[in-house]
Amino acid sequence: MHLVSILENQMVEKRLAITPEIAKKYVTLGFKLSLPNGYGSHLGFSDEDYKNSGVDLSSNEKEIIDNADIIVQLGLLDDEKLSLLKENQTLVGSFNAFSNKEKLENLKTKKINCFSLELLPRITRAQSMDILSSQANLAGYKAVIEAFQVYERAIPMMMTAAGTIPAAKILVVGAGVAGLQAIATAKRMGAVVFATDVRMASKEQVESLGGKFLMVEGAENLETEGGYAKETSEDFKKKQEELLSETLKKIDIIICTALIPGKEAPKIIKEEMFKNLQQGSIIYDLAAIQGGNTVFTEVDKIVEKNGVKILGEANILNKLPVSASNLYAKNVFNFISNLYDKENKKLNINLEDEIIAKTLIK
Ligand code: NAI
Repeated sequence: MHLVSILENQMVEKRLAITPEIAKKYVTLGFKLSLPNGYGSHLGFSDEDYKNSGVDLSSNEKEIIDNADIIVQLGLLDDEKLSLLKENQTLVGSFNAFSNKEKLENLKTKKINCFSLELLPRITRAQSMDILSSQANLAGYKAVIEAFQVYERAIPMMMTAAGTIPAAKILVVGAGVAGLQAIATAKRMGAVVFATDVRMASKEQVESLGGKFLMVEGAENLETEGGYAKETSEDFKKKQEELLSETLKKIDIIICTALIPGKEAPKIIKEEMFKNLQQGSIIYDLAAIQGGNTVFTEVDKIVEKNGVKILGEANILNKLPVSASNLYAKNVFNFISNLYDKENKKLNINLEDEIIAKTLIK
């Protein structure tokens, strides 16, 4: 089996699907690996590192793609490179199956097996492959760091001879993987943390991290069987707005992470609510690329409204690409190991395996 990866547009994607450490693991499993020259140089992984792990390097991308059985990536390749793919090749990555429907449909017609890892089921066996968790965890951490960086006051309480600086108060909207890491990061820095979610299970998790959970009065548990959030009713939205509006009066920084799979992000911080925020407050919106949790969020821009700065980026993981690649490459390796029939040295697309069936674009 010949496994390869191609560099993507680094303005959008600096992460890598194969690190030298993981390359060695593929080779041990019996794979032959090829990468373009300079594949990891922007992250400090030299060609020498890859060669020492048993990788062949080449300057001919077309040839690399042509000889591949499996191509592992982050996002979907550009149209020119996609057109080089041929029947029976396997493409693995995170292809945003909901918004790239047409391109994925074309690949399926060409009999290319596409596995999109954001579709992995949230089951115990898939945890080591779960790219959403590994990347959201890092995103939650980095969102707090980014927000703290532009906040013009100190975060922890400081008692000095010149007076006391109060601890910053943070609100985390959406306490899933990213939100929980945001809470943990903000707590470590000495902030006072509040959080809210529509899933009742998150209350205990928020509290175990030292956060205060804001519960929408009389709300039912809006959790799907898969552990994701359901869309909220108009009544819930109104109650949540009242609860948050009141809370915002004392909040300095908001970290937004609320998402509903396959849908636009819920608009939680509405225009009127901005009146309750103090000048100098910061919002970091991790849901920006899915439409944002505030009405004013714009991707890759700092928007200023009533003295409040709203930040949101297309890909915050491009700001910690080494850590993100290390985890992503391991997730993908674990996924491919599960797909690989070691005895017969071929891929076994066994649709009775929930992990394989749910990630394959059909
Ligand atoms: P996500 O990224 O889809 O959403 C982020 C958070 O936003 C979720 O907690 C969601 O409930 C919340 N949310 C959605 N709409 C909201 C609204 N209107 N107001 C407030 N909050 C709202 O979710 P994520 O972080 O990927 O994880 C969701 C669940 O999956 C969690 O329960 C997590 O524990 C579980 N999980 C299970 C794994 C497993 O292998 N068993 C692995 C990873 C996560």
